[in-house]
Formats: sequence, structure tokens, C-alpha cells
Amino acid sequence: MNGKLAAIRRNALVHAGPVVEMHKTELISVDPNDPQAAVMEQAATLIEEGRLVAFPTETVYGVGADAMKAGAIEAIFAAKGRPADNPLIVHVAGPDMLASLVTDIPAAADKLIDRFWPGPLTLVLKRNPNVPEAVSAGLPTIAVRMPQGRIALELIRRSGAAIAAPSANLSGRPSPTRASDVWTDLNGKVDLILDGGPTLVGIESTVLDLTEWPPMVLRPGWISGAEIEAVLGEIRRPQGGEELRRSPGTRHRHYSPKARVLLVKKGTPEGLCELCSRFAGNDVGFIGYAKLGPVDQSIKQITFVNDAAAYSKSIYSALRDLDEAGVSVIVVQAPEESAATDAIMDRLSRAASEIIDMA
Ligand code: TXA
Ligand code: MG
Repeated sequence: MNGKLAAIRRNALVHAGPVVEMHKTELISVDPNDPQAAVMEQAATLIEEGRLVAFPTETVYGVGADAMKAGAIEAIFAAKGRPADNPLIVHVAGPDMLASLVTDIPAAADKLIDRFWPGPLTLVLKRNPNVPEAVSAGLPTIAVRMPQGRIALELIRRSGAAIAAPSANLSGRPSPTRASDVWTDLNGKVDLILDGGPTLVGIESTVLDLTEWPPMVLRPGWISGAEIEAVLGEIRRPQGGEELRRSPGTRHRHYSPKARVLLVKKGTPEGLCELCSRFAGNDVGFIGYAKLGPVDQSIKQITFVNDAAAYSKSIYSALRDLDEAGVSVIVVQAPEESAATDAIMDRLSRAASEIIDMA
């Protein structure tokens, strides 16, 4: 065994399950509009060597590896502490890369690809048996998407690999929308983090299952059910536990900060103020659009406008920042509901330990 390998073995952290190798993690700033060629080459070489590189997409940061390398896929699961039954999304630089990943591209997929790629729409198709089954957690299907943004696309093109990449957080924590969030969760567990600044959308892609008709939304996202319906004519919204069965990821605890989250629907400034002051002096944080007026100085407030896009962009960083500030309770004011708030309400409901309707 060479010295380097021996050092890695010595440093291996043994968790409940798989072994996580210790890495010296490099963090490099990259211009998202004009990524430096030398840095992208370094990142692509790491992917070719079967290592882990975290990078920004338009939705959230992902932690990526060559989808065809079973060992690298195992390393992703270990680094995140991800349950082995939760499949990964494979990222491509264009529809031409699908041939080696899927067995069939239905007409509906072509239509959606024309309309929404590159962009935050993930399609579940039938997996080509060449792809290691660990990518799909043993399922006969595979989730694929073409991300937007030059850093992600160049990493895929330069490495010549389809890149399997879940969100670059520790399993169960809010997805990372800044390189610093990735650093907090995965320093020492990945080889390189490409810092391309904050992500634009802020919540994860819409996941649509096209292996049956009508197609079903397994995870709501920035591209709404109505927009997909406008292209395909019909889709199925999940009923009851159906999406849990079909999309293992939705089964697991998700998007949760360490603090207890109280999600408030239809909260008035007075009602919210009263709720927050119940915890005053006890480290409470508030996220929402209401102006709370004069409240206890100890209440840490993060406000944005009452708009689905503003909430999506900033909700995960706000939850993380309040965690960092050490609060034990976070009161979140839900945005006023509209067709565009489906995805954000899905994530907030999963993060919340309690939902309070003040109507
Ligand atoms: O925006 C995004 O989708 C980000 C960026 C990095 O692309 N990625 C992301 O990946 O959110 P992850 O692993 O955090 O979430 C993947 C979701 C999970 O809910 C998983 O269960 C589902 O996609 N999924 C993956 N493969 C699937 C499959 N074959 N069938 C059903 N669901 C699948
Ligand atoms: Mg995730």
C-alpha cells in the first residue's frame, strides 16, 4: 500500500454504515459566466479519476461523480450519509448523452426536453443496464436532467461523463445554495468545491416520472405541474402515498435545520409577533415577509418579499443562517399561496415540525 493510500485508510471515519474517506477539500472561486479553463480542467480530471466535485447548478449545489463509476457513486452515498435506497439524478450536457443512460426516449420526453432543457426539470426514464444500479438505488429507472449554467455544463463536457449528483448537503439537512453551505456539510469529504456564487432558483428541480402514462410529478419544483401539463396535455398528481413508493427520496426526513421549525399559514403581523414573543429570550428566529414591528431584540429576523421566487431563492440559506446563529425555534411565515408556491410549500412543510393555520 503506498503512503498516500495508507494515510487515507488511517484517516477513514467509520460511521454506522460505509467508510467515509478523508479528503483535503479545495474551495475555488469560479466565474459562473466565464469559468476559468484551468480550474474547469482540474475539476474534470478529478471526475475522470472517480473523485467527488461539488458544483453549482441553477437550482442548488450538487456533489458529483462519474455516473458510470460504481466506486465513485458509493463514495457519494458515504460522503452525504445518504440512505442506500435513495436514487441519484444524473446530469447531462445535452439530450445526445441520453442514449447511453436510458433504453427509450418517449415522445413526451422529447417535447419536454425541447421546452425546458437546460433547466430545472428532471425526467425519470427506463435505465440502460450499462449504468451501475447503485445510481438508481437498484430501481429499473433513472432520473436525468440537463442543468443550466456554464460551470455545470462545462464540467460535464470537459470530463466527457454523465455526472450523478445529489444536492451537496449532508442527508436530511437543507440543500446548499452557497459554496459556504457545501463547505459546512462536506469539508473533508469531497475533493473540490467550485464556488460559483449563490444559485438562482434556490430549490431543487421538479422530478417527473415518464415511465408510465399519464406521467406523474414525484417532486414539485420551479417548473410547475401546470407548465408541464400545457406541453403534455395530461399529468397525474400524486395521490396519498403514491409518490413515496415511486420516489424513495420523498420518504426520508428532508430539508431540516437543527432548530424546530413552526410553519405559519395566513399569519397576521400581530399573530406572528405574539407567537415569536412566546419564545423571546429563548433564541427564536423569524423568516417571512411581515414587518413584525417592535419585538424583543433577541428575535433574529430574515425577511424577503411575499413572492414564490424570492422565497425559493433564499429559504434554505435563511434556515441555515438561523441555525448558525444558534436559535432553537424558527417561525416561518408561509408565502401567500399561488400556483407558483407549490414547491416552496412542499419543502417548508417537510422542514416543519408543526404547521399553524392562523386563518
Ligand atoms: O435540482 C436538483 O434536482 C438538484 C441538483 C444538484 O441537480 N439535485 C437534487 O438531487 O436535488 P437529490 O438527490 O437531492 O434529489 C433527487 C430526487 C430524490 O427525491 C430521489 O428520490 C429522486 O430525485 N429520484 C432520483 N432517481 C429516481 C428514480 N429513478 N425514480 C424516482 N425518483 C428518483
Ligand atoms: Mg437532496
